[in-house]
Amino acid sequence: MKSLPKVELHTHLEGAAPPAFIRGLAQEKGMDISGVFAPDGGYAFKDFWHFLKVYEAATSTLTTPEDYHRLTLAVLEESAAHGVIYTESFMSPDFCGGRDLSAWREYLHAIQEAAAQAEAQMGIILRAVVTCVRHFGPEKARETALCAAETAGDFITGFGMGGDEQSGKQGDFAWAFDCAREAGLRLTTHAGEWGGPQSIRDALDDLRVERIGHGVRAIEDDALVDHLAEREIVLEVCPGSNIALGLYPDWQDHPIERLRERGVKVTISTDDPPFFHTTMTREYDRLADAFGWNEDSFRDFNIVAAHAAFCDTETRARVLKKLEQTDD
Ligand code: HPA
Ligand code: ZN
Repeated sequence: MKSLPKVELHTHLEGAAPPAFIRGLAQEKGMDISGVFAPDGGYAFKDFWHFLKVYEAATSTLTTPEDYHRLTLAVLEESAAHGVIYTESFMSPDFCGGRDLSAWREYLHAIQEAAAQAEAQMGIILRAVVTCVRHFGPEKARETALCAAETAGDFITGFGMGGDEQSGKQGDFAWAFDCAREAGLRLTTHAGEWGGPQSIRDALDDLRVERIGHGVRAIEDDALVDHLAEREIVLEVCPGSNIALGLYPDWQDHPIERLRERGVKVTISTDDPPFFHTTMTREYDRLADAFGWNEDSFRDFNIVAAHAAFCDTETRARVLKKLEQTDD
């Protein structure tokens, strides 16, 4: 499955940082973040809320645009090695310059330079979804949305929200999402992972998003599953992340297959791959084992993902062509 071309819609840029890369940065800067790592060198956390703390501690080592340039290259190299041809990554002005617009522009410039280099060298295409961080609150989300709106374009194509899904309500962030929509950005938000089905309804009604990050807990509400299928809402499903965080006990118990059977548009992503000890290849291998999916099934998922990608039509056509090229 490693060489199969893949489209990935849901990763967090800092969450894809190899632990050795973060450890190296901490050493260079004389920062002590030893609490972040397990004895085996991987990231250590005990549940989702602890994960968010460890994520922010690891991210604190990324202090300059140059750090993000190196990070972006390292992340894209790893993704390309697993066959990813197009990837959308969540990026946060909160972590890149503290929501200051001119600082954010500098970080963005460095990230885009790295993306251009990776595309020229490895063919992988990166697009960005600016995310606000839910537990930082609606006020900060407004500032984040203003940064996103000012830099919307070919590279920054979407706006979303990550962070602690149990902090506040989706609707508290409506101003930020309205601002992003008015700037032409496409919208997604994390829902239906740590929040139940109502959090997905709130995301659709109050934030008017067209994709949902995770959304898997829709399976607990039959009417909602039908609604998602009818409205062709795309779910950015990250099965390995859900299993690593204990949302489901095992791959066979994961609802992705039941959602697909019921006609919901599902796609496959890694979320924060080194944190959850996963890669796109591992996701595909485990899903093939659990549900008997084969290369044709995965091609179908990738075509759904390419159509749901927040890129322009020319980019989408290029991606679809690459997916088709594997046809004999
Ligand atoms: N979920 C929610 N928020 C996040 C994540 C995640 O996996 N990674 C970084 N912020
Ligand atoms: Zn996520």
